[in-house]
Amino acid sequence: MIDDIKDLSLIQKQKKLKRRSLSSAFWKTFPLAFVASVGMSLFGIMITGEFLEAFTIARAFETAGRIATSVFIMIAMFFSVHSFAHEEKFLVRNFTLVTIIVAMTYMACMATVYFFNVYIMPISLVSLILLVLTNRKTSLIATCGTALFILISFISPNKLETTLNIYGIIASIVCNLVAAVCVNSLASKHYTRLKFLVMSAVAAFVSVPLVVITTLAIGDVSLNIVYNLAWSYGGNVGAVLLSLPLCAIFEGIFNIADDFKLNELTALSHPLLKRLASEAPGTFNHSLVVGNLAEACAEAIGENPHLARCAAYYHDVGKLKAPVYFSENQSNYNPHDELIPEVSASMITSHTLFGEILAKKYRLPKEIISICREHHGTTPVGYFYRKALSLTEDGDLPSVDYVYSGPKPQSKVAAIIMIADTIEATCRSFMPDVKEEFVAMVDRLVGEKLNLGQFDECPITLDDLNKIKETIIDVLPSVHHSRVSYDKRK
Ligand SMILES: [Fe+2]
Ligand SMILES: [Fe+2]
Repeated sequence: MIDDIKDLSLIQKQKKLKRRSLSSAFWKTFPLAFVASVGMSLFGIMITGEFLEAFTIARAFETAGRIATSVFIMIAMFFSVHSFAHEEKFLVRNFTLVTIIVAMTYMACMATVYFFNVYIMPISLVSLILLVLTNRKTSLIATCGTALFILISFISPNKLETTLNIYGIIASIVCNLVAAVCVNSLASKHYTRLKFLVMSAVAAFVSVPLVVITTLAIGDVSLNIVYNLAWSYGGNVGAVLLSLPLCAIFEGIFNIADDFKLNELTALSHPLLKRLASEAPGTFNHSLVVGNLAEACAEAIGENPHLARCAAYYHDVGKLKAPVYFSENQSNYNPHDELIPEVSASMITSHTLFGEILAKKYRLPKEIISICREHHGTTPVGYFYRKALSLTEDGDLPSVDYVYSGPKPQSKVAAIIMIADTIEATCRSFMPDVKEEFVAMVDRLVGEKLNLGQFDECPITLDDLNKIKETIIDVLPSVHHSRVSYDKRK
C-alpha cells in the first residue's frame, strides 16, 4: 500500500514535469518545423513546374491548403514522437532530426520521381537514419509522415499528374512505404554496420512482389514491370547505402549516442578511459564493474544496455581532477586526514561538476554528459557531514555544503547508474557473505535513494526498481568473484 502511494506521487510529479517540458520543447522546435513544412510544400510545387501558377488568385486557396496540411502533419508528428523521448533536450534533438531528415528525404523522393521513375522513391532513407539515431517508433512515425507529405503533393490537378499516372504514384508510395516499414522492423541498430547494411537490403526486397502486384493492378502488363522493379529495389538499396554515411554525419553534428558510437566509446581505447586507467586505476576498476551491473539492469527493464555500460564507464571521470581524494584510489595516504570536513565534502561533490566539464571537453554524447552530472543526484555525503557535526558544539549544522549539486537522475539509465554505483561502492568496502544480508543491504541502499526523492524526476517505476534490485542481487556476487551463501547460520 505504501509502495502504491509512493508510486502514485512519483507518477504525478513526473506527469507534471513532462507537461512542462513538452510545451517548452514544442516552442523550441516549431520554428524549424514550420519552415520545413512551408519549404517542402514550395519545393513540391516548384518541381512540378507550377511555381508561378500556384500563386495566382485561382490557385492561391489550394496552395494555402497544401501548406496548412503540411504544417498540421508536422505538428501531429511532434505529438506522436514526444512520448518516446523522456527529456526535453532529447525531444528537441529527436524532433529537430526528424524535421531535417523528413524534409531531406521528401526532397530526394520528389526529385527522383520527377527526373527518373515514380517507383524509385527512397522513403526507407528516413526509416534507416532515424532508426539508428533515435528509436524504432520515432523512425516509424517519421516514415509514415514522409509518405503523407509525398502523397499530398500529388493530390491536386497539376502537370505532374498528367505526365505521371496518379495511380502509379500511389502504388509507388505504398510499395516504398511498406518496404521502409519492413526495413524499420527487421533491421536493428544493435547489429554491426555490415549486418545492418545486409539486413536492410534484404528487408527492402519486400518491395519486389508489391511492385509486380501494383503494376499489374493498374493495368500495365508491359515490360514496365521489370523497369519498375529495378527502380524500386534500386531506390531502396541506394537508401541503404546512403544511410550509413548520413548517420555518421548527423551523429557527429548532433553528438548522438547511437549504438555504433557507444561501441566505439566502450572499446577502452578512448583517451579519457586511458587517462582514467592510468591516473585513477581504482575508479577505472569500479567503473568497469558498474558497467557490468548497469548493462544487466538496463536489459532487465528494457532500456539500452549499450548506453548503460558506456555511461557507467564514464560516470566518474570527474575524479580525474584529484583521484587521491577518492577512497578507491588511496593506499596508505588519506589526504582527508589533513582537511576540514567542509573542504573534503566539496572535493568529493565537485567530481560530478568536473565530470560534466571533462565529458563536454572530450565531446561525449549528451546522454553520457547528463549522467556524469546526475549520478549522485542531490544526495548528501553522509560521512563528512557526520564528521563535521561531531566537531560542532551545539550539534546543529546546515547540510547544504554536504550535498551533491544535482540534478536528480532525469532518465531511467541515470537512475540505474545511481543504484549500481552506490551498491558497488558499498560492496567494495563490505561484501556480506550471507545472501539474506546482501539482499537486505541492496534493499536498504535503494530505499534510501527512493526516500530522498532521487527518482522523482525520471520515469522509473517501483516495478523497474524491483527488477534492478533482483538483477544486482544475481549479478554482483559473480562480478566480485565472491560466493554468497544462502544462509550461513543454517
Ligand atoms: Fe560518482
Ligand atoms: Fe562511481
